[in-house]
This record gives sequence, structure tokens and C-alpha cells, in this order.
Amino acid sequence: MSKIEIKLNDIPEGKNMTFKWRGKPLFVRHRTEKEIAAEAAVNLAELRDPQHDKDRAINPSWVIVLGVCTHLGCVPIANAGDFGGYYCPCHGSHYDASGRIRKGPAPLNLEVPYYEFPDDDTVVVG
Ligand code: FES
Repeated sequence: MSKIEIKLNDIPEGKNMTFKWRGKPLFVRHRTEKEIAAEAAVNLAELRDPQHDKDRAINPSWVIVLGVCTHLGCVPIANAGDFGGYYCPCHGSHYDASGRIRKGPAPLNLEVPYYEFPDDDTVVVG
């Protein structure tokens, strides 16, 4: 129960899917080439919680984060907000397509859980 196996071929490019893992929403996002390039180019000095995209996404095509806003725990909306990633409607936190906090009251980036890719079509989280 502590791990979840997700088939990646079911998630089209540009789409974020939500799963339930350890009682919390888990976001799995298949990024576009444009999103990958944009997030890799972000200047860390602009970030409230500075983390390079490559340290958050082992495989740049896939962003895997908990869908729990780091402000007060609401579930952000995918593909919304000013930075093209996620938007939390509770108090207006904007996250980028790496799940990094960019604007609003949340103090930290969306949490990246432990995960690995046993093969090209599968991710195991936990
Ligand atoms: Fe997300 Fe407050 S809980 S902005």
C-alpha cells in the first residue's frame, strides 16, 4: 500500500493526472518540450524556494509531486495560474511546471516524493 505503480503511456503529453497515494493527491505531469525548456531556464535567484528543475524531475518529461499546497494544504489546479504549472485557489498560490512556488502565500515548492522508473512506461512512487 505504501507504493503506487503508474503506467506512463496512459498520460498524454501536456496532461497532468491525479492519483491517490498514502491518502494524498499525487500529480503526475507529462511535460511538453516547451515546458521542459522553460523550467530548465529559470534563474534560481528568482525563486522563493530555490531548486533546479533537474533536481526535481529525474526524467525531464515527468514531474511527480504531491498535490498538496504548501500553504495550508488545499489541492492546486493543474495547468492554471500565472506560471503555467499549478494554481491553488484557496489563497492564490501560483506554481510553475516544475511545481515550484512562484507567487502567493505558499512558502515552499510542491513536495517531490521518492520515485523511480523501473522501465520506460512505468513509475513507482514510494
Ligand atoms: Fe494554497 Fe493557501 S492553501 S494558497
